[in-house]
Amino acid sequence: QIVYLADYRPTDFVLERVDLTFELDPQNTKVEARLIFHRREGTDTRAPLVLDGDELNLGGLLLDQNGVPAAQFTATPESLTIRDLPESKPFEITVTTFINPEANTQLMGLYRAGGLYCTQCEAEGFRRITYFPDRPDVLAVYTVNIIADKAANPLLLSNGNFLGGAGYGEGKHFAAWFDPHPKPSYLFALVAGDLGVVEDSFTTMSGRDVALKIYVEHGKEPRAAYAMDALKRSMKWDEEVFGREYDLDIFMVVAVSDFNMGAMENKGLNVFNDKYVLADPETATDADYANIEAIIAHEYFHNWTGNRITCRDWFQLCLKEGLTVYRDHEFSADQRSRAVKRIAEVRHLKSEQFPEDAGPLAHPVRPNKYREINNFYTTTVYEKGSEVTRMIATILGRDLFKKGMDLYFERHDGEAATVEDFVKCFADASGRDLSQFSLWYEQAGTPLVTVSGAYDAAKSSFTLSLEQAIPATPGQATKEPMHIPLRYALILEDGSEAKPVSISGAEVTGDVLHLTERAQTVTFTGISSRPVVSLNRGFSAPVNLHFEQPMADIANIARYETDLFARWQALTDLALPNLTRAARAAQNGETATCDPAFIDALLATARDESLEPAFRAQALAVPSENDIARELGGNNDPDAIFAGRLGVLGEIARTGIDTFRSLSGAAKANGAFSPDAASAGRRALSNAALGFLAHAEDSPARAAEAFAAADNMTDLSAALTILSHRFPEAAETTAALAAFEQRFASNALVIDKWFAIQATAPGKDALDRVRKLMESAHFNAKNPNRVRALVGTFAFANATGFNRADGEGYAFLADQILDIDKRNPQLAARILTAMRSWRSLEPVRAEHARRALVQIERATGLSTDTRDIVERTLKG
Ligand code: ARG
Ligand code: ZN
Repeated sequence: QIVYLADYRPTDFVLERVDLTFELDPQNTKVEARLIFHRREGTDTRAPLVLDGDELNLGGLLLDQNGVPAAQFTATPESLTIRDLPESKPFEITVTTFINPEANTQLMGLYRAGGLYCTQCEAEGFRRITYFPDRPDVLAVYTVNIIADKAANPLLLSNGNFLGGAGYGEGKHFAAWFDPHPKPSYLFALVAGDLGVVEDSFTTMSGRDVALKIYVEHGKEPRAAYAMDALKRSMKWDEEVFGREYDLDIFMVVAVSDFNMGAMENKGLNVFNDKYVLADPETATDADYANIEAIIAHEYFHNWTGNRITCRDWFQLCLKEGLTVYRDHEFSADQRSRAVKRIAEVRHLKSEQFPEDAGPLAHPVRPNKYREINNFYTTTVYEKGSEVTRMIATILGRDLFKKGMDLYFERHDGEAATVEDFVKCFADASGRDLSQFSLWYEQAGTPLVTVSGAYDAAKSSFTLSLEQAIPATPGQATKEPMHIPLRYALILEDGSEAKPVSISGAEVTGDVLHLTERAQTVTFTGISSRPVVSLNRGFSAPVNLHFEQPMADIANIARYETDLFARWQALTDLALPNLTRAARAAQNGETATCDPAFIDALLATARDESLEPAFRAQALAVPSENDIARELGGNNDPDAIFAGRLGVLGEIARTGIDTFRSLSGAAKANGAFSPDAASAGRRALSNAALGFLAHAEDSPARAAEAFAAADNMTDLSAALTILSHRFPEAAETTAALAAFEQRFASNALVIDKWFAIQATAPGKDALDRVRKLMESAHFNAKNPNRVRALVGTFAFANATGFNRADGEGYAFLADQILDIDKRNPQLAARILTAMRSWRSLEPVRAEHARRALVQIERATGLSTDTRDIVERTLKG
């Protein structure tokens, strides 16, 4: 059934305390939950207590330590209802359940994988452990007792501070934990097993000593050093930038190898996918290091934005996720290069969130209904949610934004809040009316801003005409105009920024132009020459711009803008028309040639030693096949897009061959490996050059040489990617793949790279390759990382292979989804979203895709997760 935001109401009962006792057993874990409630004042005195469950079996029930007559309660796997409860005085319910962690293949609730007991409760996993008011607005203080076999589980962890432990007879022992901070059930965690640990400590700004522990599989301790370093930097940064201090005596991170998502911010006990903890030069790429830093920070930052202040209901998910992503973005920007970080964010937003917002799964940053909340952990809630937070900062300016954040922490600490509460803090702190701005939370779809400029030399004035349109999305046919903050600069002939005498037609604060009407004409006076307009600097608003600007203006921005993000954007704007032209030509069996001005601008940037290498590498990463597909907008033929893009890459490569020769291998000179951003940037530039050389020289020799010479995973995997994507038939490629497999056979995370590289090799043979890899001994259909690396990357990141003209890619995915869905619905539903852009395919492929979706839809026994995605994908 469907849950609506409008139906929210508080619980009838207030939960005061939670006492949990776990007697761990792989197949028969006993959970005893003692819950103290009282009836909320003003609610119906006859209302029963209704607790949530999911596949539960009631093993026992006591009310104030006495048995409860059968007539007084009803238990089903999904709920426990208790009637005739006291009118006002507190009472205690003791619920016993028996659960089977080993049989829990969904990886939600308490499960067992790799000899470890582990939990994942967000969003609604706690109800798979015990009957409970499993919703985020029920906050309570928890005590947790864990009893388990001592030899197998020397480690017994839960939230909060460690109270104590002792032997428990018969080879067992127990540990007790107390978390003094009231929390919702989704932040509960328990981990038990045998793990190695890396320890450190952090002294907070008020002098609290915090023990830091990162738990990993024995032998992997050295690979947790970078995560520990990132954790300490995160703690410091949150104190310095947001004034937030940690609030327990211990902070723990546990890395697990079977995990549905990236990581989870359980209070004091973060649980991570080991992929986002473990790193060393031999096995982790620079991207892995950057992800670890960002995710460690993200989960740590949740301690305030998510845990201390949590969400009233799941519709408010962006309240914690959008804000926390914004915080981790700012953190990474401060730790690395701000401009390069911003470019990477926008690339990710455009390639993941924009398609979501333009397809059948589009939904507002704060949805108003859902059938399965797990399907709303989306890039719209996370990444667009972060952009919305960033826009508040842009509109208010740094100081007022800070004032608003401080007010938020002060006003709502210890509460379960709403988006309205959040926005009101900024309105109150700044005195600004943010009601129109709030539409960003309610209206789905990426706004399109159409712009034109006109210079009047006689009047020395410049006018900018802007119009906004927000496309229709499922359930939202018409939209209201929004408040769109556009950073801009008017750049004069001599490269200086124009200082207008007056501006009329729009509010302008600093360098931010506030577009608030459907159409607005802004006039700047006192402009001495025709200006070049740089609009949406820093990507201040997540919109599509349609600006018919002279190519020469764009080329000027690409060369001379002081805002590096705008320079990158201009290079993209120069590239896209060339790429779409080439794709269209390929669709008609023709070839197109590039505008030399585009290639010149690109190569000039690549050579410009005054720019940081990471930026130059970003410039060389020309728009992806998906970017081109989005630009084309419909009737897409992925083979033509690929062929057209390949032609453009070849032209750039041949024109710039000397540049690329001098850039490739340039990173080598820099001595011992360091994962820092500057070194990573040098590697990125050198590997980008290597990629172009493969096009220009049309030979695997250089990549094979680079593969042999690589002394770190970034260079090694870059070389292997070039070999297997460009020269799949070459003997060098076969040898390199075999060498890589053999060398890393015992490291599943590295084998995932080996899977992903092969799964993304373009062309129609990819499907057979993926099928064959699924037969390999390294594959394990039960492990989400393996499935994502092979099946997920194939569907999401191999446009030509997945979208084979004969539809076999879709048929394969349908089979896989139905298989995965039986074990792990969340994983199946997530991978199925790879089909979200099926309507923009050319008709033959679109029909194949539709049939595969219908095949899934008609299957019996489909999970709610997968049913929700497949139905919306077909309908929207
Ligand atoms: N709260 C976690 C994070 O973003 C992610 C949890 C995902 N949960 C889910 N049901 N998909 O840090
Ligand atoms: Zn999060």
